[in-house]
Amino acid sequence: MKITPRVFSGMQPTGSLHLGNYLGAMINWIEMQKTHECIYCVVDLHAITVWQDPAELRTAIRQVTAAYIAAGLDPKKSILFNQSQVPAHAELGWIFNCVARLGWLNRMTQFKEKAGKDREQASVGLYAYPNLMAADILAYRATHVPVGEDQKQHLELARDIAQKFNNDFKKEIVAQGFEDGIFFPQPDPVITGPATRVMSLRDGTKKMSKSDPSDFSRISLMDDTDTIADKIKRAKTDAEPLPVTLEDLSKRPEIDNLIGIYAALSGETREQAFTMLLATSGEGPSLFTGFKRNLTDAAVTKLGPIRSEIVRLMADPAEIDAVLANGAARARAIAQPVMDNVKDIVGLIRS
Ligand code: TYM
Repeated sequence: MKITPRVFSGMQPTGSLHLGNYLGAMINWIEMQKTHECIYCVVDLHAITVWQDPAELRTAIRQVTAAYIAAGLDPKKSILFNQSQVPAHAELGWIFNCVARLGWLNRMTQFKEKAGKDREQASVGLYAYPNLMAADILAYRATHVPVGEDQKQHLELARDIAQKFNNDFKKEIVAQGFEDGIFFPQPDPVITGPATRVMSLRDGTKKMSKSDPSDFSRISLMDDTDTIADKIKRAKTDAEPLPVTLEDLSKRPEIDNLIGIYAALSGETREQAFTMLLATSGEGPSLFTGFKRNLTDAAVTKLGPIRSEIVRLMADPAEIDAVLANGAARARAIAQPVMDNVKDIVGLIRS
């Protein structure tokens, strides 16, 4: 059976989405929607690998869905749904728990970061998280996965799992009619654009993240104009003189980050963003004032309409739930036959 190109990606409903989620992943999702069959998931089962207040989780699932639509994903075209409504994710996740090796998971840097020093107290789900992520993708035999740079290692694991499954069950895969012995494709990460790793506005060496205790480290898609302006105004730069070339930025992480953010927001290249920085530079402490003003304008122009649309959509939760129900039904229709094949290949009996 031929494997058709298909896009899958997801975001965790743990609070509001931020600029990193938007520039690192979502703008590519919107582009790929024009050319591919796309499945975009709100990964609620991943969210509960750390404690979530149930009422807040329900709101966050709806808000992330609203953000998907507000940013430009079309629920008539792409499949938008929440993970827990499609049983194939958890089912295939279990099978992959039995395919992946402990040693593979022990290497996952995200687990080490999230579990921190008290590993013994981390949930088993947090440890097995990357296996569920592989299942998300492979339940649809997806071939392309647009993500930010931080998901690269998880994607490599998904590729390893696909390959091991194909190898372990090769004979059976062929016997089930997949003549080339390949059941799962090896999904390709799509990590592209000028902002694949958006950094904290307070510390250019740390990535922008929902879990940073400082709200000033990130711009949320729910921030209003004044808040965006204030955060950019206070964004850390450094005390060095103006950089002369783009290459100088390799040792200037905060400026480098702002250049990447401006380029991604305005649709310009990093070179064009850098030229703008040089053209608008002031004297002494106001070196970056002009640049930051343009950056604020670009952020407000792009994010303002998204925020108002999220607010509008959130006023009608039943409509959002209907989008999720419709997406889940379409997702189940793709994943169910894949699961039937998987069960036959593994040797499980189904009726
Ligand atoms: P999550 O929810 O942490 O992030 C969602 C997407 O946003 C990207 N991202 C960033 N990109 C650039 N700079 C940043 N600072 C930044 N922060 C986040 C992430 O790379 C991601 O693309 N494990 C995934 C969710 C997931 C998934 C999947 C993704 C579950 N199953 C299957 C793809 C395919 C996660 O935690 O993303």
